Order: sequence, then structure tokens, then C-alpha cells
Amino acid sequence: MSKGSLPLNDLSGGAGRVDVLIRALMAALLTSHGVRKNTEVILHMMGGPGPPRRIKFNGHELRGLHAEERSIAGTLAKVLNIPLPPIGRWQPVTAGIEHSGGALKHTLNEWKNTKVIALDANGPRLWKKEAPLPVVSKANEMDIGLVLSDDQPLSGEEQEGLELRSLGDTWLQGHMAVGVVHFLLDEGVALNLE
Ligand SMILES: C[S@@+](CC[C@H](N)C(=O)[O-])C[C@H]1O[C@@H](n2cnc3c(N)ncnc32)[C@H](O)[C@@H]1O
Repeated sequence: MSKGSLPLNDLSGGAGRVDVLIRALMAALLTSHGVRKNTEVILHMMGGPGPPRRIKFNGHELRGLHAEERSIAGTLAKVLNIPLPPIGRWQPVTAGIEHSGGALKHTLNEWKNTKVIALDANGPRLWKKEAPLPVVSKANEMDIGLVLSDDQPLSGEEQEGLELRSLGDTWLQGHMAVGVVHFLLDEGVALNLE
């Protein structure tokens, strides 16, 4: 849902799959002992009522994000009760959290100078053929935008023009897919992005 009072006891039903988004957000931003400063997550709340809302979490600015689903749900609930800003105007909510109107296409437009791929099991593998698994971590610091969907596939319109990359034939839960990507980036595995 993009507006109204988030049913904190029904995050996987009445609210749409907000539980899936929260797990992916935690996988993307949190390490076992801190926050990834080089990571930003934009949640696209497309379920209405009314126009979609985007909520951005910036790891570099975030303060006090608790590694706990309920507390993050509480934060989302506060944002959903704030009037929706115009498309493209990112309005600060608290340190490291902003929101704006708009949908995926607006985010992709904002990311136009960044390499963007959509994670999809049916695409070519994300890593280069026979890419060695480094034994010394050499984090890959490149700018890369990753698009994941929730429990539903991206629509044809949303996928349009997006390059797909796979993490293997088995469809994983979104937060697991995020974890695999962080592993590849943290270890510096050669990626197949051409
Ligand atoms: C639970 S999956 C979504 C499954 C959904 N039925 C679909 O067909 O998109 C959530 C997201 O995780 C990512 N994902 C899961 N498994 C993947 C894989 N093997 N390769 C690439 N991305 C994957 C995709 O971005 C997917 O949209």
C-alpha cells in the first residue's frame, strides 16, 4: 500500500507484501554489525490507494535503523501517513529516509547514468563465464542499479529496456537474491554486465 494506516499485524496480507520489502531492505542495507554506507534502497509502493509512492533509504545517511522487521514496519507506517510529495521531489522524512511520488520508470530515469540490471532467473548469469571465486575479498565498488520484484513478476512495461541477469535457475526469495549479489560484490567476483 502507498497511503493510509499500515496494518502492522498483517504485513503480508492487508498491506500487500510489505513483509517481503522489509526483508529485502534489511538484506540490502544491513551487515551483521552495521549499515552498508555504499547502498541505497528505493521501495516502490504501488498498491494504492491513489498514486504510487517511493521510499528511499540511504545507507550513508541512515541513523538508528533497527535490524528488526517490526521497527522498520513502524517507520514505513509513519511515511505512509505523510501527504505524498510530487513525482521527483524527494522529501526528507528523517536521517537517511526520503519519499517521493513516482513509479519504477521515474527511478530508472533518475538512474540513467548508472548501469542498471533487473534480476531474473531467466536471464544470462550475473557473473562472467568461469569467473574465479576470489580467495581475497576485493570489493567491487562500481555503481550498479539492481531491480527486483516482490512475489509477482515485473510487468512487461516495467521490464521494457531492462537487461536481465540471473543468479541461477532456482527462483530465490528476494532477500536471498540480494544476499547473493552482496556476496558477489563484496568478494569482487567478475560480473557479466556487457
Ligand atoms: C520471490 S522472487 C519473485 C518471483 C516471481 N514469481 C517472479 O517470477 O518474478 C523475488 C525477486 O528476487 C529476484 N530473484 C529471485 N531468484 C532469482 C534468480 N535465480 N536469479 C535472479 N533473480 C532472482 C528477482 O528479482 C525476483 O523478482
